[in-house]
Amino acid sequence: MMNWLSEFWSAGTPAIELATLRDAPKLAEIHCASFHRGWGESEFESMLSERNTLVHRLRLGRRTIGFAVSRMGADEAEILSIAVDASYRGKGLSSNLLLTHLGHLAGRGVRAIFLEVEENNLPARRLYERAGFAVVGRRERYYRQGGEQLNALLMRRDLS
Ligand SMILES: CC(C)(COP(=O)(O)OP(=O)(O)OC[C@H]1O[C@@H](n2cnc3c(N)ncnc32)[C@H](O)[C@@H]1OP(=O)(O)O)[C@@H](O)C(=O)NCCC(=O)NCCS
Repeated sequence: MMNWLSEFWSAGTPAIELATLRDAPKLAEIHCASFHRGWGESEFESMLSERNTLVHRLRLGRRTIGFAVSRMGADEAEILSIAVDASYRGKGLSSNLLLTHLGHLAGRGVRAIFLEVEENNLPARRLYERAGFAVVGRRERYYRQGGEQLNALLMRRDLS
């Protein structure tokens, strides 16, 4: 039986690229599997058509396994969503995706980046902290998930 590492390399090397309209169905599939309120194909199509929205896809071989989406306004941006397909999580693939995405935002003149993350989402918090984000605010009971009310942390990173 192959271990995950040999399976991983046989699947191809990871690549991070700008997403196109043709990625909408796959990105919606990954989003819906990753979040309580999933975005549909048409939501991705609109975001992929907007000039102020930046969408990267993470590809392994021929398979798209993740994405990062942010919206830009003046010299600020907000990361709206980032996800990696559940079977490829925990392998460190998200950090290159995020850093490449941040590099493109910097190239577009963005100086400050914000995001919101659910307080108990430790993998996401760790990812953002390692990428240089710091907590700048907390919103009590910001998310509603089933009967639960969860807190949000607001994080910021400046780009120079
Ligand atoms: C957040 C997400 C993109 C991270 O992707 P990933 O490729 O699995 O990330 P990594 O493998 O680099 O792991 C990120 C960090 O979280 C840590 N981590 C993983 N699972 C963890 C857990 N259950 N508890 C605490 N830390 C955990 C990892 O060890 C790693 O930290 P390290 O770099 O110090 O080792 C992925 O988990 C995901 O798609 N989650 C669902 C969608 C989501 O919540 N997106 C963020 C919304 S704000």
